[in-house]
This record gives sequence, C-alpha cells and structure tokens, in this order.
Amino acid sequence: MADVRILLVGDKAVGKTSLVLALVSEEFPNIVPPKAEEITIPADITPERVPTQIVDFSMSEQTEDQLVSEIRQANVVCVVYSLIDPGSVDSVSSHWLPLLRKHRQADKPVPVVLVGNKSDASERSQLPTVLKVMNSYPEVETCIECSAKLLHNLSETFWFAQKAVLYPTFQLYRPDDKE
Ligand code: GTP
Ligand code: MG
Repeated sequence: MADVRILLVGDKAVGKTSLVLALVSEEFPNIVPPKAEEITIPADITPERVPTQIVDFSMSEQTEDQLVSEIRQANVVCVVYSLIDPGSVDSVSSHWLPLLRKHRQADKPVPVVLVGNKSDASERSQLPTVLKVMNSYPEVETCIECSAKLLHNLSETFWFAQKAVLYPTFQLYRPDDKE
C-alpha cells in the first residue's frame, strides 16, 4: 500500500491546526498559525506501518480551488467540529460531507472520520447527533471525540483515519442506491 494521505477540514477555529501540532509535538500549542506544514510520519512509528501524510487546510489562507485539489488527493478526510461550537457540528452534514461528495468521482467516495475536538471544554458529547449523520453518509467510517488541549485521543484519531483507508467497510456502497 502506498502512503496514506489524511486531509483535515472543518469550520474555522474548530482546532484543526492545533490537533496536528499537538500530535507531532506532544504539546498543546499556545500560538497557532492558520495552517500547519504538511508532515509525513514514517511507517515505523505509525500503528499500521504505512507512511502517513497529514495535510491541514485553512480557508483563511487557501482558496476553494486548493481545497478541491486537496480533496481529490486525499485517501481519507477528517471532518473536524468543535464540541463547543454547535454551528460547526451542523456544518458537518450541511456543508462538509456534501462538498466532499461533490468533488469525488461518484463511484469512489473518500472515507471520512468525524472528529469532535475540544472535549476538555464541553460536558456534552455530540455523538448522538453524529451517529445520525453516519446513517446518512455511509462513507463516514467512524467518529471520535478528542482534545488537542489535553492531548486526549490524538493518536487514536489519526490511527482511525489510517484504518479507514486500509480497511474500508463501505466498498459496496453506491450513491445511486440512496434517495
Ligand atoms: P482555521 O485555521 O482558522 O480554520 O482554525 P483551526 O481549525 O485550525 O483552529 P486552531 O487550531 O487555529 O484553533 C482555534 C482556537 O481553538 C485556538 O484558540 C486554539 O487554542 C483553540 N483550541 C484548539 N484545540 C482546542 C482544544 O482541544 N480545547 C480547547 N479548549 N481549545 C482548543
Ligand atoms: Mg488552522
């Protein structure tokens, strides 16, 4: 298997860049640039032993065309929302998942992992809502809640993304089967 290329998208300020920087430095960054540099994690330190690229995206620095180009290159997309921003949860199904479908060939949807960040700041899980979204979008392989601030569930998040590429469960799904 070639490299796994993981793209992070989601509304502004949900913590995409913080997640990437916290994963690589094992420290929550107090100052975050809009976009993290693309990083490659060598095969021997990833749980599934495949070289893995992590690609951050920031609407404030990049264009819609660049987003489309990144979506086409990705093997898996993490759609990130914030547990303390209900609007960012709504955007997962109203904006991001339809956008990902639009820019992929119909017969090759990109596997998706839904990532709820900032669990440190919220008492409430969004998993009940997210599970409903998963029913409508079979390309969503899994979901997880994490905290870049507490370094909680970070390696698990990227491991889930790797697994979604290596062991996808939705091969039989065709968009035409859905209403
Ligand atoms: P854009 O690049 O603008 O799309 O934002 P982003 O999604 O990359 O978010 P960014 O990493 O810049 O973080 C936005 C704000 O959320 C910053 O003030 C972070 O410190 C904060 N933040 C990120 N992760 C967490 C977290 O796990 N918990 C808490 N409490 N705050 C966080
Ligand atoms: Mg960012």
